[in-house]
Amino acid sequence: MKKSPILIIGKNGKTGMRVNQRLQALGYATRPVSRSTTPAFDWENSATWRSAIEGTTTAYVTYQPDLAVPGAESTIKEFLRVATETGLEHIVLLSGRGEEGAQRAEEALQASGISWNIVRASWFFQNFSESFMLEGILAGELVLPAGNTVEPFIDADDIADVAVAALTDPAHRNKLYEVTGPRALTFAQCIQEISDELGRPVKYTSVPVDAYINTLREEGAPEDLQWLLHELFTVVFDGRNCNVMPGIEEALGRPATDFKTYVQKTIESGVWTVAMQRQSA
Ligand SMILES: NC(=O)c1ccc[n+]([C@@H]2O[C@H](COP(=O)([O-])OP(=O)(O)OC[C@H]3O[C@@H](n4cnc5c(N)ncnc54)[C@H](OP(=O)(O)O)[C@@H]3O)[C@@H](O)[C@H]2O)c1
Repeated sequence: MKKSPILIIGKNGKTGMRVNQRLQALGYATRPVSRSTTPAFDWENSATWRSAIEGTTTAYVTYQPDLAVPGAESTIKEFLRVATETGLEHIVLLSGRGEEGAQRAEEALQASGISWNIVRASWFFQNFSESFMLEGILAGELVLPAGNTVEPFIDADDIADVAVAALTDPAHRNKLYEVTGPRALTFAQCIQEISDELGRPVKYTSVPVDAYINTLREEGAPEDLQWLLHELFTVVFDGRNCNVMPGIEEALGRPATDFKTYVQKTIESGVWTVAMQRQSA
C-alpha cells in the first residue's frame, strides 16, 4: 500500500470515479475531491486547492467545466503554481482533442517542471448514459447540432485504465496519449446502434447550432454552458477530430473498446431502462 494518497480531482466525474475505483482495487490509497468533499476542491475557488493537495505527490486532474473555456489556461497555470509549492511531483491531466484552450493547458503542464502525462481524449461513450445526452435517449429523440460529423467516441473505462497506468507506472512518465475509440461514428449511427440493441425506437435529429443554443437559452441553461456547447459543436465538430488515434493501444497494449461493447454493458446497467421505469411510475 502506498502511504501518500493519490489525489483525484473530479471525484464523482465520469473518469474520476472510475480511476478511484481502479486505484482502490489495486490497494492504493486515494484522496478523491470535488466541491462536495472534505477537504473540498473547487476550480472556482483557489483558496480550496492547497489543503486538498497537501500530503499528496501524484494527481489525476480533470478540469471543470472544460479546458476550452476562456480562463481555463490562467486557472491551470495558477493551479500548477500551487501544486509545485505544495509538493505535487506528478500530474496526469485529462484533456480534450482539437481545443486550443486545452492545448494551452497541456503546454503549461509540460513547462511546469512537474512530471506529467496528458490523456487527450475524444468524446466519451458515457455522454450517452451519464451526461446531458441521457435525457434525449430516454425521451426517444436526441436533438443535437452535430450534423453528420464523425467522432471516434471512446469508453471512459479505457480512459481510466490509461490514467491508472500513467499514475502508477513510471515507464509512462512524460508521455501524451491521444486516445479514441476504434470506430469513428456519427451521432445518428450511435443512436441507431443503441436503438437496435435496446429494441426501442430512439432517433437522432440534427438541428442548426443557433436554434439549439436558442432552445437552451429559453430553457434557462447557464450562459457558460451555452457558450461551451456552441464552442464544442462548432469547433470540436468541424471535422478536425474525425481520425481514430492509437493512444489506447500505445498505453495499454490492447485495442480500444468498441461502441457495441459499451452499449451492451450500459443496457446491462439498466440506466436506459430503469430510469424510464422510474419516469413512468
Ligand atoms: N465528456 C467528454 O466527452 C470529454 C471528452 C474529452 C475531454 N473531456 C474533459 O473531461 C473533463 C471532465 O472530466 P469528467 O468527464 O471525468 O468529469 P465530469 O463527469 O464532468 O465531472 C463531474 C463532477 O465534477 C465536479 N465539479 C463540477 N464543477 C466543479 C468545480 N468547479 N470544481 C471542482 N469539481 C467540480 C462535480 O462534483 P461536485 O458537485 O461534488 O463538485 C461533478 O460530479 C473536462 O475537462 C472535459 O473537458 C470530456
